[in-house]
Amino acid sequence: MTQSSPARVFADRAEACRILAAELAELVASINASGRPAVLGLATGRTPLPFYAELIRLHRAGQLSFANVVTFNLDEYLGLSADHPESYHAFMRRELFGHVDIPAENIHIPDGTVTDIPAHCAAYEKTIRDAGGIDFQLLGIGRTGHIGFNEPGSPRDSRTRRVELDPITRQDAAPAFGGLENVPTHAISMGCGTILEARKIALLAWGEAKAAIVNEALSGPVTDQVSASFLQQHPDATFYVDADAGARL
Ligand code: GLP
Repeated sequence: MTQSSPARVFADRAEACRILAAELAELVASINASGRPAVLGLATGRTPLPFYAELIRLHRAGQLSFANVVTFNLDEYLGLSADHPESYHAFMRRELFGHVDIPAENIHIPDGTVTDIPAHCAAYEKTIRDAGGIDFQLLGIGRTGHIGFNEPGSPRDSRTRRVELDPITRQDAAPAFGGLENVPTHAISMGCGTILEARKIALLAWGEAKAAIVNEALSGPVTDQVSASFLQQHPDATFYVDADAGARL
């Protein structure tokens, strides 16, 4: 059975983020009202920045609390410690966690410095399961069509594991790292299977550079060569795109 992921095309990213943030605030409030924490899967990259800014704005306006929210990030670069400025630990502190009321113990991000990677990945999966699974998963999309760091060839049922970064992905990260030679070659990433178990998924994409891959992910064949295409088979996955990223739909 194939279900097509609906795309919602907005005039600009600010509007898309305003609408999705309001929807997420409502979801968190309704899950919290049912007497349990809301479990969010979070993403990094440039794409979610205006979304996180909007979440912080809602928090400051008293319209969103993270006091009863548990988070799981998609991925982390292997070899980077939490205090490296390009680590996803540092990113999340800077762009979201440092500005909201989330208890530190509710935050989960893969650790890029562990020695026993398989054990760490298995424990990460178990922590997600023990939290009751992910209610809402936020995603960006890489130029290779990856979600998290699930590069072409990542199986649909893959779980959290060590992955090798595609040359295109490393090239895209090179400016932030001050040169390709400084970009890590590997990462720990939730798998496609982990991501697809989230009950609700929102993929964000902005700008014309994402138009071709967004179109392929939404309308092309479902294939492990474009891991975002697996979202076509998810019952509640939505693409939130601006007019430029949605230009080819
Ligand atoms: C990295 C992240 C992805 C993200 C992608 C796109 O590879 N691991 O989660 O979606 O970059 O990055 P950007 O949002 O900067 O275009």
